[in-house]
Amino acid sequence: MSSRLFSPIELSGLALTNRVVVAPMCQYSANEGTMNDWHLAHLGQFAMTGAGLIIIEATGVEALGRITHGCCGLYSDENESAMKRVIDFCKSVGDSKIGIQLGHAGRKASTERPWEGGNALSKNAWQTYGPSSIPFTEGWHTPEALDSAGLDRVKQNFIQAAKRAVRMGIDAIELHGAHGYLLHQFLSPISNKRTDQYGGALENRLRYPLEIFDAVKAVVPSDMPILVRVSATDWVDGGWDIDQTIEFAKALDAAGCASIHVSSGGNSLAQKIDIGYGYQTDLAKRVRDQVTMPVIAVGMITDPFQAETILRTGQADMVALAREFLRDPHWTWRAAKALRSSSSVPNQYGRAVTFS
Ligand SMILES: Cc1cc2nc3c(=O)[nH]c(=O)nc-3n(C[C@H](O)[C@H](O)[C@H](O)COP(=O)(O)O)c2cc1C
Repeated sequence: MSSRLFSPIELSGLALTNRVVVAPMCQYSANEGTMNDWHLAHLGQFAMTGAGLIIIEATGVEALGRITHGCCGLYSDENESAMKRVIDFCKSVGDSKIGIQLGHAGRKASTERPWEGGNALSKNAWQTYGPSSIPFTEGWHTPEALDSAGLDRVKQNFIQAAKRAVRMGIDAIELHGAHGYLLHQFLSPISNKRTDQYGGALENRLRYPLEIFDAVKAVVPSDMPILVRVSATDWVDGGWDIDQTIEFAKALDAAGCASIHVSSGGNSLAQKIDIGYGYQTDLAKRVRDQVTMPVIAVGMITDPFQAETILRTGQADMVALAREFLRDPHWTWRAAKALRSSSSVPNQYGRAVTFS
């Protein structure tokens, strides 16, 4: 018996030992964007059990691109050295490759941590920016529409953060184009009402995210995989949808994207989502049918056999899990056992699997 989940895969030449991805998960626990021991323990526990790829949480390329005051950033030397310590630790305990999700929260920045309510900050708030001056919902900050200087500033900050990521020894970069954050805001007609070359027709709405992709790709080593996470649909009539996602995916494929990570929603409270096990995998499959790059499925994938079936039936090339890794940080070991495969085990834990 062979397992697809535990078969290797390459992303633009980066060899992953298996197809298990730890999805990016904000911890809202950084200080001025800087990681600490929480992040070391949080990410380190996944690295110990050998997931093929661990993606570090949404990380703001500038301070005002963070979602909350607790979100990670990669815009200062302090951010960089603290995150490098975490990456070094992860690499010292296993063979997982470490990616980082670089993003900008746009109009969804300057909010409370989820456990504080998750609403727009009323104290210590900051000016938010977006494609257009439309708040996410009533009572949220009204963003300032980015002018050409602002667009350039954000792009330069993506570039600087990508350079820092390379310096830290990161293996892959994922651009956050999902969940209603800045790049998704540009894609979706719900949040993008611009009348310049970045708004209106689909081709125009794709332009800024594609420019960011190209700008990042140009400053990292040619063999560094750049992934893009998308929301495949806004789940709102007249919003961003799967057909537009496929056009975006094709353009990314042509631009040298290493993989597309297919999530959904997050740009409108009017979204109607039929949430259930594997509820986004059919979206991943729709994209996969149209591109050459590997596709990552995510969303209520919890069981090893479910994950294996997603790969075997050609719905995706890799699977990402978020909450199930919080419930069981050793999920990769559990899955390996269920699928009669193996994943890396640090020497200190060797007796757990040798039974001697
Ligand atoms: C605590 C937590 C934090 C999250 N933070 C991020 C994030 O930083 N970036 C992102 O793209 N998605 C984020 N997500 C969404 C997950 O990556 C994932 O897409 C979602 O939870 C669905 O997968 P699941 O059913 O396996 O949890 C987060 C989810 C959770 C539970």
